[in-house]
Amino acid sequence: MNNRANFGSKLGVILASAGSAVGLGNIWRFPFETGNHGGAAFILIYLCCVLVLGLPIMMAEFMIGRRSRANTAGAYRLLSKGTPWKWVGRLGVLSGFLILSYYCIVAGWTLEYIVQAATGSLAGQDAEGFIHTFNTFVSNPWRPVLWLFVFMLLTHFVIVKGVEKGIERSSKILMPLLFILLLVLAGCSISLPNASEGLRFLLQPDFSKVDSQVLLGAMGQAFFSLSLGMGCLCTYASYFRNDTNLPRTAFNVAMIDTIVAILAGLIIFPAAFSVGIQPDKGPSLLFITLPNVFQQAFGSMPLLATLLSLLFYILLALAALTSTISLHEVVTAYLHEEFQLSRTKAARLVTSGCITLGILCSLSLGIGKEYTLFGLTLFDLFDTTTAKIMLPLGGLFIALFAGWYLDKQIVWEEASNHGTLKVHTYRLLLFALRYVAPVCITLIFLDQLEVFG
Ligand code: PHE
Repeated sequence: MNNRANFGSKLGVILASAGSAVGLGNIWRFPFETGNHGGAAFILIYLCCVLVLGLPIMMAEFMIGRRSRANTAGAYRLLSKGTPWKWVGRLGVLSGFLILSYYCIVAGWTLEYIVQAATGSLAGQDAEGFIHTFNTFVSNPWRPVLWLFVFMLLTHFVIVKGVEKGIERSSKILMPLLFILLLVLAGCSISLPNASEGLRFLLQPDFSKVDSQVLLGAMGQAFFSLSLGMGCLCTYASYFRNDTNLPRTAFNVAMIDTIVAILAGLIIFPAAFSVGIQPDKGPSLLFITLPNVFQQAFGSMPLLATLLSLLFYILLALAALTSTISLHEVVTAYLHEEFQLSRTKAARLVTSGCITLGILCSLSLGIGKEYTLFGLTLFDLFDTTTAKIMLPLGGLFIALFAGWYLDKQIVWEEASNHGTLKVHTYRLLLFALRYVAPVCITLIFLDQLEVFG
């Protein structure tokens, strides 16, 4: 295992993991899930899920990955020889593959919006116009497919050429830049006329609307946004150094991820309410609301509006890229290490598989709209099955594995770097992994199955 790569620096570790976590999940998925589930109450439950489920399970993935120094399926094979635990890793690989197959569609949309912003075709439209632009684009059979293809090739290139170093280095500038731009946009959005209604939607919880869908949605969003439950951070941790402080890294990644999601909410909802867009517009919400922010706030300065929107979509595409890389890496590392395929061959298989499934998912939003399963299009089916079922299920097993199966000596050594770090939350961590996470996830699943009537 000595020839496996390592992350160069401490900052590199945090940037790569935060790069995986921060992506479309925060800026595209979090707002539309919040909108679908009624706003503030959903956010509060989401925050609880991050704290109670996300943090401990992220720690578990870090410990499993660094200890085994293998891909996620290999990790369970090595740490629990000859037991069925390896299926947890395999389930993760499958989840990663399915997520990548529809995630790259939305990532492709960001490329279309880069072009639209650059050519000035978003300027001067009103809310209705933006809705029309989006719907026309998504239902076109070719353009979204072309962009998902381009995006998958970009991801493929990074995975094969191993230009992570370049990405790691540029992330040091780009991530803070994205953060600053989000802050500026949140400021703009909040100062739009009638923005207060959007703020109320975000900040005033109405618990009477909380049902099992809200609970499941919040839990799924926490797993999705933190890249948990499928061995992604486990795979990354297999490249961590022995002196990486796991608890601190987990805390930083969860913090950064949560702040970005909340900022995205502060951009989308005040603007949506201001121009009369319904918050439950689903996956289109970001793409029909955001152009409004640029239009309303900078309409009188077209050049500035163009530049800022261009910069925003480029940063969004890069944030998505650091996430698609991490998803791709899970599956590639698995095929490479478990089946002795060369990395290039493994990556080729993943890329072509994802493009094929991606095309089907993309068409399911346009010409294939009538073909549904359980009332969902293929795109929605992939999103729902992975985020709301597979990731929490994966998380449940990861918590059980680290909390009950794994030797406590190993857990202690990994959490504290062989006793060199003081981990005040160690007992809390064990308690969360053994009891809190498994019980909460199971209850939310049972609630969904209407076991409680
Ligand atoms: N967390 C990423 C995002 O928020 C998506 C992702 C999910 C990445 C699962 C890796 C694993 O966009």
